[in-house]
Amino acid sequence: MLSHIQTVNSKLTTANCIHMSGNMNLTLKVWRQPNNDTKGSFVNYPAQNISPDMSFLEMLDVVNEDLVKKGEDPIHFDHDCREGICGMCSLHINGRPHGPKQAITTCQLHMRSFKDDQTITIEPWRATAFPVIKDLAVDRSAFDRIQRAGGFISVNTGGVPDANAIAIPKPVADEAFNSATCIGCGACVAACKNASAMLFVSAKVSQMALLPQGQPERYKRVQAMVAQMDEEGFGSCTNTGACEAECPKEIKITNIARMNRDFFTAKFFKQEEA
Ligand code: SF4
Ligand code: FES
Repeated sequence: MLSHIQTVNSKLTTANCIHMSGNMNLTLKVWRQPNNDTKGSFVNYPAQNISPDMSFLEMLDVVNEDLVKKGEDPIHFDHDCREGICGMCSLHINGRPHGPKQAITTCQLHMRSFKDDQTITIEPWRATAFPVIKDLAVDRSAFDRIQRAGGFISVNTGGVPDANAIAIPKPVADEAFNSATCIGCGACVAACKNASAMLFVSAKVSQMALLPQGQPERYKRVQAMVAQMDEEGFGSCTNTGACEAECPKEIKITNIARMNRDFFTAKFFKQEEA
């Protein structure tokens, strides 16, 4: 019993030590690439004295401060809100989009998820439709163009309607809301062996296809967004489910089934709306 308590105490002491002194030392294997036309390669960097309570992006900030002090080019990576809202952070960490934890973005990932002395491999999203801008930052404007193709409803602005004028059953409202939580990060594309954007596009289609306000342009919308998705060069969906498994917002692949249903309905029965 005594030895068990001593073991537990010694583990707690070690954990506290790491917690208080911030003494994780890591090796980062980072993808460096000047631009999309130039070949990239991995470069090793030490990340020293890292607090386990730092976020992954804060750890990169520390490494970049050291690089700047030494007169070297800092590592380029995307970020904005740093609280899981904007979808800008986009790192492939040890082979997984957004790193080893489920249902969080890179900016919500903490260094306590890694071990002292660990080597961490950091890559950009890999997809033809997401060309590298520099290092770990990729161009995801293809998503914006898909949205512009049909991810909206056309309504006349005017007086604000009564909030309860159109009654929507709670389960339907919940499902539409869940689809609308997609932050457009692109992890689904990065996780897919075909670099398919079906999870993203289907979430954007579903959030409106489920609600009364989305009905007038429902079939026109799905055709326009799918056409733009194909034009951008994303791959096909082969139902492996990797996108759902890696999505930080837990968007379900049932959205893809709904989008496919709407797409085929549009093609075969509602062609006049294309
Ligand atoms: S479906 Fe998920 S992984 Fe894909 S863009 Fe939206 S939030 Fe990111
Ligand atoms: S920086 Fe906004 S979601 Fe990560």
